[in-house]
Amino acid sequence: MRMRLLCLIHFQAILLLFNVKSTLAVLSSITDTPSYFGGNETDYQALLAFKTMITHDPRNVLSSWNDSLHFCQWEGVTCGHCTKPYVQRLQVLRLINNSFQGEIPANLSHCSNLKYFEVGNNNLSGSIPMEFASLSKLVEFYAHKNYLTRGIPPSIGNLSSLHYLSLTYNVLEGQIPNALGQLRSIEFLALGGNKLSGLIPSSLYNLSSMTTFSLGINELSGSLPIDLFVTLPNLQRL
Ligand SMILES: *[C@@H]1O[C@H](CO)[C@@H](O)[C@H](O)[C@H]1NC(C)=O
Ligand SMILES: *[C@@H]1O[C@H](CO)[C@@H](O)[C@H](O)[C@H]1NC(C)=O
Ligand SMILES: *[C@@H]1O[C@H](CO)[C@@H](O)[C@H](O)[C@H]1NC(C)=O
Ligand SMILES: *[C@@H]1O[C@H](CO)[C@@H](O)[C@H](O)[C@H]1NC(C)=O
Ligand SMILES: *[C@@H]1O[C@H](CO)[C@@H](O)[C@H](O)[C@H]1NC(C)=O
Ligand SMILES: *[C@@H]1O[C@H](CO)[C@@H](O)[C@H](O)[C@H]1NC(C)=O
Ligand SMILES: *[C@@H]1O[C@H](CO)[C@@H](O)[C@H](O)[C@H]1NC(C)=O
Repeated sequence: MRMRLLCLIHFQAILLLFNVKSTLAVLSSITDTPSYFGGNETDYQALLAFKTMITHDPRNVLSSWNDSLHFCQWEGVTCGHCTKPYVQRLQVLRLINNSFQGEIPANLSHCSNLKYFEVGNNNLSGSIPMEFASLSKLVEFYAHKNYLTRGIPPSIGNLSSLHYLSLTYNVLEGQIPNALGQLRSIEFLALGGNKLSGLIPSSLYNLSSMTTFSLGINELSGSLPIDLFVTLPNLQRL
């Protein structure tokens, strides 16, 4: 199915209100045609199609999605002019606690304003796209409790704004990349519950803003440095 959404739909608002039972295919089939208040039959049809895919609406939000109101006034929908394609404007993509499957689309990396990317607790598989390295504004990246495989891409080390990274409970393997030591702003680094092996890169012990450092339930070896609590003075959870 091809689906087209208004550029300013508050996607996270919609998705937080419902448990969306569908697949990531829906997201990747959205196109970026601009629209505006008072437009457009295509937008209306797309929203109706979206509505039919919601199978669980505990707060009964969709009751306002009816013809007594213009669709721009439906709960969770905002209309407006788009000066750029919507993806490039997207700042928050929060799809946590759903049943999305398939791979994380690498081309989400074109959402250059993305700050919060949360896909934890879904059924995602495949690898973490190395293209995400270009998301220079990304602050939080949660992908815990999925089936992500292969290694952690070293390019993740380029996410200079990253404060929170959680990849716990996936099936990630290989070594923890040394490049993660470049994440100077990181506070929360959680990689536990994977199949990571080898030594913990010593560069990680330089991340002095870290408050949570979680690597449990892996296949790591080696020992912890004796000055761990000196180089990581803000550590609260290990
Ligand atoms: C609605 O949007 C579609 C896709 O951009 C466009 O082809 C169509 O002309 C628009 N219709 C109106 C009435 O603006
Ligand atoms: C349509 O939505 C309006 C606004 O939320 C609501 O007052 C009205 O009861 C709804 N109508 C139906 C038939 O659900
Ligand atoms: C997701 O699920 C977890 C565990 O059930 C829960 O603690 C958390 O609040 C949920 N988050 C959202 C945004 O629903
Ligand atoms: C998620 O994937 C697992 C393993 O493939 C499967 O057993 C489970 O039914 C899936 N859950 C949903 C909600 O799709
Ligand atoms: C992402 O990829 C899908 C599938 O190839 C494509 O339809 C879509 O236009 C792409 N989006 C962007 C923003 O590149
Ligand atoms: C990461 O940054 C380095 C420079 O710090 C650059 O050489 C490299 O190409 C970047 N990698 C990606 C995937 O963007
Ligand atoms: C840790 O930081 C210090 C001071 O910036 C630097 O000299 C050292 O090479 C770093 N160690 C690692 C393993 O990155």
